[in-house]
Amino acid sequence: GAEPRVFSGIQPTGIPHLGNYLGALQSWVHLQERYHTVLYSIVDLHSITVPQDPGTLRQSVLDMAACLLACGISPAQSCIFQQSQVAEHAELAWILSCLTSMPRLRHLPQWKVKSQRQNNEGSVGLFTYPVLQAADILLYRATHVPVGDDQVQHLELTQDTARLFNRLYGDFFPIPKAIMGTSKKIRSLRDPSSKMSKSDPHKLATVRLTDSPEEIVMKFRKAVTDFTSEVTYDPEGRPGVSNLVAIHSAVTGLSAEEIVGRSRGMETAQYKLAVAEAVIQKLRPIREEMHRLQKDRGYLQGVLRQGAQRAKEMAAPVYDSVCRLVGF
Ligand code: ADP
Ligand code: NA
Repeated sequence: GAEPRVFSGIQPTGIPHLGNYLGALQSWVHLQERYHTVLYSIVDLHSITVPQDPGTLRQSVLDMAACLLACGISPAQSCIFQQSQVAEHAELAWILSCLTSMPRLRHLPQWKVKSQRQNNEGSVGLFTYPVLQAADILLYRATHVPVGDDQVQHLELTQDTARLFNRLYGDFFPIPKAIMGTSKKIRSLRDPSSKMSKSDPHKLATVRLTDSPEEIVMKFRKAVTDFTSEVTYDPEGRPGVSNLVAIHSAVTGLSAEEIVGRSRGMETAQYKLAVAEAVIQKLRPIREEMHRLQKDRGYLQGVLRQGAQRAKEMAAPVYDSVCRLVGF
């Protein structure tokens, strides 16, 4: 088979939250040790599918680079780069868009959700961004893609597109496999029926990786639970408290059962502070490293420059071959 290669992307839209870290970034750190070639792209082409302020976007790319490094992703083990710096992403996306039907894209759930947020006047880019995702992955002939369950259908589109290309032009792309996260979805602290998300308008719903200890305590103190003042793990019946236990479990490595056992006799108000403390401990080194790195723009820009150079060296020969196969 093909040489194993891992690709994943993250949008530069604000500081990542606890859900992004526990659900994605933490596993990215492990993958760079397990696989020889690993690429992590800050996908700014994707982020302009909805309106962005240019100055904010520029800063967000550097913030995301700082964040990836602070979480433990190492430029020695992973290629960290800004998507727009490697022009072949957009070029391959054009070729793949000519292999993708409109109905296939129309059926993807994210288009429906996100275009509704734009009063159903979503851009062509928002409509076709799953094709750009396919290009991101196939441009490196990636074999493994860590994905959240919200992205499974997009990876299926990538697989179908690779198969169609191979059928039309000759066997060229490996069919990339999903690496599914095993961790539970972290839920909003204000509304445990929805996931923790950076687009949540409620200020106290989402814990950011750069939140101060005081902010973290406040958010957990205000977390929505229920009227039973006891710690149990019952995601269906008691989603609020169970979300706290799930967060506690994820940051300490203890199982939900162990946590419930240790918290016997504790009131939920008191328990919230214990979870806040565990989250503060877990995030402290990340926040400190992030603040240190944010002061060193030159270093961050250097990491991105070198990353883009290495990504380009991998991408260019693949794109050349694609062009030849297509008849250019
Ligand atoms: P958001 O919904 O905050 O915009 P993204 O869709 O950009 O997050 O997700 C980036 C990555 O983080 C994906 O791999 C996704 O599965 C993961 N992720 C996002 N929210 C959560 C969550 N609440 N719990 C666990 N993982 C999450
Ligand atoms: Na590696």
